[in-house]
Amino acid sequence: MAKAKKKAAFFCSGCGFESPKWLGQCPVCHEWDTFAEEPAAVHWQTSLSGAVRSAPARLNEVKADEEERIATGIGELDRVLGGGIVTGSLILTGGEPGIGKSTLLLQMCRVLSANGHKILYVSGEESSKQIKMRAERIGDFCNNLYLLCETDLGIISETITDMKPIIVIIDSIQTMYSEDAGQTPGSASQVREATGRLMKLAKSLPVSIFIVGHVTKEGIVAGPRLLEHMVDTVLYFEGDGGASYRFLRSVKNRFGPANEIGVFEMHQDGLKEVLNPSAYMLQGKPENAPGSVVTCSIEGTRPILAEVQALVCQTSFNMPRRTAAGTDYNRVNLLMAVIEKRLGIRLGGYDAYINVAGGMKINEPALDLGIVAAILSSYKNQAFDSRTICFGEVGLVGEVRAVSLSKQRVMEAAKLGFERCIMPKASFRELDMDKSALNGMTLSGVSSIYELLEVV
Ligand code: TYD
Ligand code: MG
Repeated sequence: MAKAKKKAAFFCSGCGFESPKWLGQCPVCHEWDTFAEEPAAVHWQTSLSGAVRSAPARLNEVKADEEERIATGIGELDRVLGGGIVTGSLILTGGEPGIGKSTLLLQMCRVLSANGHKILYVSGEESSKQIKMRAERIGDFCNNLYLLCETDLGIISETITDMKPIIVIIDSIQTMYSEDAGQTPGSASQVREATGRLMKLAKSLPVSIFIVGHVTKEGIVAGPRLLEHMVDTVLYFEGDGGASYRFLRSVKNRFGPANEIGVFEMHQDGLKEVLNPSAYMLQGKPENAPGSVVTCSIEGTRPILAEVQALVCQTSFNMPRRTAAGTDYNRVNLLMAVIEKRLGIRLGGYDAYINVAGGMKINEPALDLGIVAAILSSYKNQAFDSRTICFGEVGLVGEVRAVSLSKQRVMEAAKLGFERCIMPKASFRELDMDKSALNGMTLSGVSSIYELLEVV
């Protein structure tokens, strides 16, 4: 009988792409010289079922009890988690270094431990002293929070099994080391192995585990993408480097809505929740300035108003410069082409800089009409009325298409005292609301970008 060969594969250290042979450049993240040979993937999820053979069951007979949840006491975090931490779940919290992941989790630990839950905070990055210093900025802690500065997963699992905490924080997964994988910490197979072990532990005890994961400049968790498939919930903490806003977003959630967003602000004494994000996002908005338009985006289940800014000016280069911050660059180029072709406005000789103010990232098509209005307003150097909001998707022939959840968007604008709302005509049908809820706001339906020019 032929001897089974020990399986190995090559992994990209940037994104975790797996290849049977060595490659000079990764076909996924396009980084050079990132491939290293490591033992092939262990598929934890299949091995989780164990040796017990399961039999098929009728769907109607399966009992689905409500999951047990622990509310964290931080409203914005509970919202993103779908109503609290589900017992036995594994939650990945990703974000750039310095964005505030450790601060957020430590604050969560503070509230939970004060409510009588036993919590273990494992840090492989910082010493107890450093954590203590951070804790002192946040406030007083009670005796239910334990610290463990350790990177050996064997010791960590033993401690968790002995101590039986309700919640464990692993800060960060890239520093954890498991002997089974036999590679340096942070390598693709180490990160995968460590996550697999933690997953097994979380389900078997059960204990809820938060894993902190660092994100590379491309915006993916360093180490394998496989990680995202393994965990129950993936949260990303993002924000503008300079600004103090922080957005916590659920990218995946097996126990709640995905794409839900929580808004925080970083202060001297930790993160504070932002209770009215729309008002917050519009703070400091200039009055009657050309190129500034307010629009409404739906983030998860919640409408948030945001200001789109455009600066369109004659180019001094052969090729006009175009940038898009907070939204999709290609979408902006496409909308400029639509304006050029359908409205006959020659934008070829103009630079265009588009920005969503406040550091929020919006990739929703409903932003299109706001971007078009901002570009036209800047091009014509005429201010767009600052008490008017507009939203809608723009198609390739210049038509304005219906968007989902128009009613929520209209209500949010009315709540914040806007006087007029320009929206897709096709979305009117959806709006079975009584006029009194509009606070005196008027609605204007448009079906194409020509009509947008007519109504403003
Ligand atoms: P941290 O939670 O360490 O980030 P991460 O774990 O994501 O790397 O947060 C670090 C930044 O937050 C640091 O630049 C200091 C700042 N900070 C405050 O502004 N106020 C505070 O109360 C705390 C604890 C941190
Ligand atoms: Mg940290």
